[in-house]
Amino acid sequence: MNLLSLAIYLRNQPVTISITTATATDIPAIAELEQHYYQQEGYPAGFLYQALRQWPAALWVAQNENQLMGYALIAPAQSEQGSAAEPWLMALLVAAAGRGKGIGRKLCEAAINHCRGQGQQGLWLSVAEYNQAAMQLYLSLGFETIELRKDFLGPGEDRLLMRLALQR
Ligand SMILES: CC(C)(COP(=O)(O)OP(=O)(O)OC[C@H]1O[C@@H](n2cnc3c(N)ncnc32)[C@H](O)[C@@H]1OP(=O)(O)O)[C@@H](O)C(=O)NCCC(=O)NCCS
Repeated sequence: MNLLSLAIYLRNQPVTISITTATATDIPAIAELEQHYYQQEGYPAGFLYQALRQWPAALWVAQNENQLMGYALIAPAQSEQGSAAEPWLMALLVAAAGRGKGIGRKLCEAAINHCRGQGQQGLWLSVAEYNQAAMQLYLSLGFETIELRKDFLGPGEDRLLMRLALQR
C-alpha cells in the first residue's frame, strides 16, 4: 500500500520516492542495505523475514521505482519504564545516495502514524550520542531523551533512550 510519496532530486534527476509497507520480495535488498552500512552487525535476511512474519504491517520501504532507498522497522515491546507495552523503532536506514532529502523523516512519519493509529501511547528508540543526524531527526519529530543506558547494545555500546508521546 502506498502510504506517502516524496518528490526529490537524485543525481540531478527529479524522482518520486514512494513509502509503502514491505513485502517478502523487498527483504534481500533490505538485508543488502543493512550489510552495506553495518557490515557483519547488520540485520541478516533471516531476521528480516521473521520480522515481516511477526509484524507484517510494521516494516516500511522507501523506493524509487524498484530501487530501495531506505527502510524502517517497528517492533512491539514491553517498556522497561512502566507497565504499558509500547513499540520500538528497531531500524531506520537510508541509502547514502538518498540522505538529506527527507526520506528518513517520511519513513519515521509512516511509523509514527502507524503507532498512533494503533492507539499506542508512546514510541521508543535507542540512538548513539554521536549520531547527530539521527538525533536531530528524532528531536525535530518530538522525541524526548529519557536516559543514557550503559551497554544497551552490548559492551561499550551505550545508547540514549528516546520516547515520543503519541496521544497528547
Ligand atoms: C539518520 C538517517 C536515517 C536520516 O535520514 P535522512 O533521509 O538523511 O534524513 P532527512 O533528510 O529526512 O532529514 C531529516 C532531519 O534529520 C536531520 N539530519 C539529517 N541529516 C543530518 C545531518 N547530516 N546532520 C544533522 N542533522 C541531520 C535534520 O534535522 C533533518 O531535518 P531538516 O532537513 O529539516 O534539517 C540517515 O542519515 C541514515 O540512514 N543514517 C545511517 C543509519 C542510522 O544512523 N540510523 C539511525 C539509527 S538510530
